[in-house]
Amino acid sequence: MPLFPRSSIAKKIFNGVTGAMLIGFILIHLVGNLFLLTGNPYDFNAYAYKLHSFGPLLYVAEIGLLLVFLGHIVSALGVWFDKRKARPTRYAVKGNAGGNSRKTFSSTTMIISGLLLLAFLIVHIITFRFGPGIAEGYVATLDGEEVRDLYRLTVEFFQVPLNVGIYVAVMVFLGFHLRHGFWSIFQSLGGYHPRYTGLIHSFGIFFALLMALGFIAIPVWIYFNIVPTATALGGML
Ligand code: HEM
Repeated sequence: MPLFPRSSIAKKIFNGVTGAMLIGFILIHLVGNLFLLTGNPYDFNAYAYKLHSFGPLLYVAEIGLLLVFLGHIVSALGVWFDKRKARPTRYAVKGNAGGNSRKTFSSTTMIISGLLLLAFLIVHIITFRFGPGIAEGYVATLDGEEVRDLYRLTVEFFQVPLNVGIYVAVMVFLGFHLRHGFWSIFQSLGGYHPRYTGLIHSFGIFFALLMALGFIAIPVWIYFNIVPTATALGGML
């Protein structure tokens, strides 16, 4: 049995299942990041510390997440290459193919938004997950214990207008990617029913908007100093 699905249908299903898992991660990640906006560094640092206190379990979850991301990317590229093989010449005019077809800006740019998100993720993880920590002076005191000041790192990062601009732009693409991805999961996993087409479609748009705007709010909120900066709150920890 091959390690990875070979048929186009199996690749689509695999892509849908991994996409659904990533949607779950993105939702949880956004909720966790909202602790950045409480105005008290303690909240976000305590949340991050709690996650890291799971020790080896966190590493297992991170490796699982990495595999899900890789599975999603490889299956997406597989589906894309299969489609290109089946139709080497492009359509001169893009339009709805009728029936369940939903050709939108989101659906026709999935591979572009996906690759952009991949590039973003690599830089994002280097910046935050593997960025400066206690050894580099990013230390906060949490109930008498020294922990990594992830709050300060994030707030400092979003003091730079270019970083804010890049994040806002990438989150717009995240929204487009989620909009079509949400819809596509239902199609690939057979959860689609003609009666609910409109509902699934509308909920996909709502969810994509919620995620994009939620993630955009964080850098914008921090940049415009709606929460006090780490320096201003330094004495509180
Ligand atoms: C304003 C937007 C965002 C902020 C402020 C943010 C913040 C962070 C922070 C602080 C970490 C480090 C967590 C830690 O070391 O414990 C992190 C990790 C991560 N972020 Fe984000 N994030 C944002 C958007 C996103 C988006 C849109 C995605 C996915 C599409 C994403 C995926 C990840 C992943 C995969 C990790 C690594 C998780 C881990 O290793 O535990 N982030 N993010």
